[in-house]
Amino acid sequence: MPATLEDYVAEARSTGRVANLPTQSHIAGKSIPTNSDKHTDAIEIFDPGRGEVFAQVCSAGEEEVEQAVAAARNAFRNSSRSSSRSSWGDSAPAERATILFRAANLLEQEAARFAVVECLDAGKTLAQAQGDIASCINTLRFYAGATDKVFGNTVPLGKDYIAFTMLEPVGVSLHITPWNYPLVTLLRGVAPALAAGCCVICKPAEQTPLSALMLADLLTRAGLPHGACNVVVGTGEGAGAMLARHAGIDHITFTGSVETGKLVLHAAAESVTHTTMELGGKSPVVVLADCDQAAALEGALYAIFENAGQICSAGSRLVIEKSIHEPFLERLVERAKSLSFGHGLRNPHIGAIATREQRDKIERYIKDAQNRGLVPCVGGNAATDPETRKGWFFEPTVLDKLDARDPIVQEEIFGPVLAVQVAEDAQEAFALADDTRYGLYAGIYTQNIDRALGLARDLQVGQVTINEYFAGGIALPFGGNRLSGFGREKGLEGLANYCSVKSVAAKIS
Ligand code: NAI
Ligand code: MG
Repeated sequence: MPATLEDYVAEARSTGRVANLPTQSHIAGKSIPTNSDKHTDAIEIFDPGRGEVFAQVCSAGEEEVEQAVAAARNAFRNSSRSSSRSSWGDSAPAERATILFRAANLLEQEAARFAVVECLDAGKTLAQAQGDIASCINTLRFYAGATDKVFGNTVPLGKDYIAFTMLEPVGVSLHITPWNYPLVTLLRGVAPALAAGCCVICKPAEQTPLSALMLADLLTRAGLPHGACNVVVGTGEGAGAMLARHAGIDHITFTGSVETGKLVLHAAAESVTHTTMELGGKSPVVVLADCDQAAALEGALYAIFENAGQICSAGSRLVIEKSIHEPFLERLVERAKSLSFGHGLRNPHIGAIATREQRDKIERYIKDAQNRGLVPCVGGNAATDPETRKGWFFEPTVLDKLDARDPIVQEEIFGPVLAVQVAEDAQEAFALADDTRYGLYAGIYTQNIDRALGLARDLQVGQVTINEYFAGGIALPFGGNRLSGFGREKGLEGLANYCSVKSVAAKIS
């Protein structure tokens, strides 16, 4: 009998850990015991819900980076073209589908263990971690089903020619991911890359590498050829930077901060490597006076407090029409006060902040705001788990009536902090919503279809949701404009990142 969710939760609650966690980078189908990062002996993995170490992984350096690139290149196309071993890059789409479907089934069977590990590693509530794993299973199935639907076009050049395009895998893709959605963010790149026939190297955030290592092992068990998915656990400045500038990488998918994104872009320029950049946001939830206010209230809370606000597309700004502002805010503050937080395994409304640095960063933003004379209408303090007095938490926080230029309005805080902006009317609400250097996401609550679609048309963002924040799923493309980056993940657009177009034209005599 496989262990149940209750078994894993009980184990994690009594021992603070999960048994048999991976400790080493996964290269060419196996764990690599060496430790060549001269600057870091081992990376300690914290449970943010307790603020204590619960696992350790070896930190990879140059040697492992070279091994991973060699393994991925070899798995992509065996060095000898006449080799009888079939390479992943040359595999039949149906074969790739079979393996990805098998991986989805395995992940479904092992979902409980993955969810508890993600809960400990990233500080998530159990419910959110379970939601993450369910969405990863969908992602694997979506792209498994897409492997044999990657079609080129025929191009009419007149009767003396036959011309067509064919889509080929780009080659080896590098996936640099952050700590807020360790497995979700990784798989939304890795699944389409593998589906397209690419081989991948994952560089998960050093704070949360466990689920990536477990995924690599799971893919190997699902039959993925050795080397087609490698995970290098190391620091950003070390292994991450080495990989980003490596000539053996054909595509980089990066998710993280704008500052690090710029470094990765510079590194990618060295080898003219093409990139997909997902760099966060400061997304508005626009609430107009004619909306269903109960739905808008729940939507606005969900938009900023899900995953403790550590979401690139979090609705971190509430832009609300003046005529409903006061009563709406009163209810919002009441609801925010009623949200419980604490260790994710107990499944409160809100879990931990994933790292101590991030908790401190959120606290700094609020302290600076208080020094400017602003007073949060709820929250505003760093906190610990109310039961154990341990861990890194932050109270659900709301700051009202903010000026459009205030740093709380303009900068990505990445925590449970909602900035409220009051607009005279719908027109001003649109202007405030768009007054940002970011351009990832926007939500609108209104019963007026013209206003909803007008906002969808006019805002410089990659995704708009109407009357339900975070509406959508893996089929819907996702990505940003402006400082939020470029390129799209998810959907069939996500698959296109890993396909390269070749044009063929034949003269018929
Ligand atoms: P980061 O952007 O520095 O880290 C993301 C990934 O990049 C990690 O895997 C890291 O190891 C890697 N990395 C770091 N430096 C690198 C380099 N020079 N070359 C190649 N890879 C490198 O994010 P960090 O420092 O963990 O968080 C800083 C801020 O970024 C947060 O406070 C938050 O505001 C924002 N952030 C945004 C996210 C998003 O989804 N848009 C996710 C996580 C953080
Ligand atoms: Mg960083």
